[in-house]
Amino acid sequence: MTHTQVPFPEGFLWGASTAAHQIEGNNTNSDWWVKEHTAGTHIQEPSLDACDSYHRWHEDMDVLAGLGFTDYRFSIEWARIEPAEGQFSRAELAHYRRMVEGAVERGLRPMITLHHFTVPQWFEARGGWTAEGATELFARYVAACAPVIGQDVSHVCTINEPNMIAVMAGQAKRGDNSFPPAGLPTPDDETTQAVIAAHHAAVKEVKAINADIQVGWTIANQVYQALPGAEDVTAAYRYPREDIFIEAARGDDWIGVQSYTRTRIGADGPIPTAEGVERTLTQWEYYPSAVGYALRHTAEVVGSEVPLIVTENGIATDVDSRRIDYYTGALNEVASALQDGLNIQGYLAWSALDNYEWGSYKPTFGLIGWNPETFERLPKPSAVWLGEMGRTRTLPRIAD
Ligand code: BGC
Repeated sequence: MTHTQVPFPEGFLWGASTAAHQIEGNNTNSDWWVKEHTAGTHIQEPSLDACDSYHRWHEDMDVLAGLGFTDYRFSIEWARIEPAEGQFSRAELAHYRRMVEGAVERGLRPMITLHHFTVPQWFEARGGWTAEGATELFARYVAACAPVIGQDVSHVCTINEPNMIAVMAGQAKRGDNSFPPAGLPTPDDETTQAVIAAHHAAVKEVKAINADIQVGWTIANQVYQALPGAEDVTAAYRYPREDIFIEAARGDDWIGVQSYTRTRIGADGPIPTAEGVERTLTQWEYYPSAVGYALRHTAEVVGSEVPLIVTENGIATDVDSRRIDYYTGALNEVASALQDGLNIQGYLAWSALDNYEWGSYKPTFGLIGWNPETFERLPKPSAVWLGEMGRTRTLPRIAD
């Protein structure tokens, strides 16, 4: 086995990602805050203070920039910016503007996600994405974000993992609220159409704010792999859960690829992970090659005109050396896809910090840990190792 190095293409994004609700703490106007304080859900613990990144974002950025990263993806919180319908908080817009400027000052390019799973309580109460006028309300929120994203922001993600939103809506209609949804139930068609419409409306609003902003959305890729003879079943299973959302990105400036593990499909649907196979803290199969399959599949569906960015990729583990192994395997796949000519414009790991994994703090995805008493940031060896690649601007390639 030989090790070679693959240079980053020009302008390659190198960073880590987070989401507001998972790190900020006290996101009290969001629908999730209500869920977390409602009895009888799958939620094991509420998010409460999370990592207190609402106040400590500058510490997060200091650490990331110091490690060698050049890009930071974070989300801004609709529930804070528009806590009551039609009432926008100037103070919260100014807060997020300070974050954008703070990132730039530290040499980090901010990639801003406008929506990452949470919505304001009032939006949920009026029926969420499928209620009449939802698209217009989302578009109005996006337009209101002009003071935050109008300058210094090169990349904006409209909606994170719309396919998971549709899957969760399908599941909720059947009375189950667990995350991540077990076995990926059938997405709700109406929600699928609604979020696609909301994305297209949001793209227009962002372009109206600043036509130079590169706009896209980020899709959860489950790396569906067909067992012999199950190719048609797999394609039919995958289309409403993934491909329809990838197709909706045609014409966008980029598409975000997010993958963690694989899902094998047999004649009767998904096959459970076999006994004895290594699993991560989320119980997903340890499968670092996922990102390679995800990139290649996305390129095939969306076409070569839309650049790809890995916007999330990582592993929940409390053994940091397994995280380094995972990223070694994953980056080898990215390097190999680049060598094959795929137009990949960046790689952002999930996640910058150990964070609130939608119901529990136990699955730790972070490159950076933190002290639960003092919130002091504690970068792990994996963070140092990954950050270093930003300095050398090369990816490891393990050729065989
Ligand atoms: C989401 C993150 C989540 C991660 C791990 C993605 O589905 O965008 O919010 O924490 O995967 O489950």
